[in-house]
Amino acid sequence: MNKKILAGNWKMNKTRAEADAFFSETLPHFMKQNARWIIAPSPTLMECSVKAVSNSGIEIFSQNCAWENSGAFTGEMSPTQLKDIGVTGTLIAHSERRQFFGETDENALKRCQSAIKEGLHVIFCVGENLKEREQGITDQVLKSQLSRLCKSFGGSKEIESLLSIAYEPVWAIGTGLTANSQQIADAHSVIFEELQTVNLRPSILYGGSVNPQNLGEISRIQNVGGALVGGASLKAPSYLDLSSALQ
Ligand code: PGA
Repeated sequence: MNKKILAGNWKMNKTRAEADAFFSETLPHFMKQNARWIIAPSPTLMECSVKAVSNSGIEIFSQNCAWENSGAFTGEMSPTQLKDIGVTGTLIAHSERRQFFGETDENALKRCQSAIKEGLHVIFCVGENLKEREQGITDQVLKSQLSRLCKSFGGSKEIESLLSIAYEPVWAIGTGLTANSQQIADAHSVIFEELQTVNLRPSILYGGSVNPQNLGEISRIQNVGGALVGGASLKAPSYLDLSSALQ
């Protein structure tokens, strides 16, 4: 059974001084619990964050990763470059990448394959937007976002320790609107069953306006293996409260 995961996605926030201040405030109170603690900061903060968390039990992930290890890919970071500075994993296909930077299912799979090949853990994000939910096509959207991944990794047991899925309904990200327990349970069960058809059982995280008040309830829902948290992971007291709320 995989450990529960709490991953903080800092998005494009904080200077190095602010990241250092966050870790100085958090680490003295941070208890290594039986879970996996991750922070995904901006590229400019990754190296100082890796140094700050050494031996603390917190891992530093990237928010994206290229599909090649080197070459003419302006603006990208490769899996080997990330490993070189001590980063242990990456988010892939966050909805903001899909929405604002043209990330496609096809590219996302290539990024995922290359990160996993280099031994990085991948949190692969899926989720429907508001229009798709209103049209009643959430299940199809989730299945279609997962289909390439299932074809590529199906049946590969070694992949499970390197892959997690994050279900993040786009309408719940940064809006203060959390999906309700039934919506989360339904979506997680669709994802769980879709992955089961190819013998994959990675952790499935929920993301979208998670905070210390709702995390306890969310993390008890069936098939929820943890959370991907944006806004509420930015402040040290809130991150510490999240760490005590995870069930
Ligand atoms: P939020 O962001 O917790 O601020 O809604 C979650 C995410 O985008 O991963």
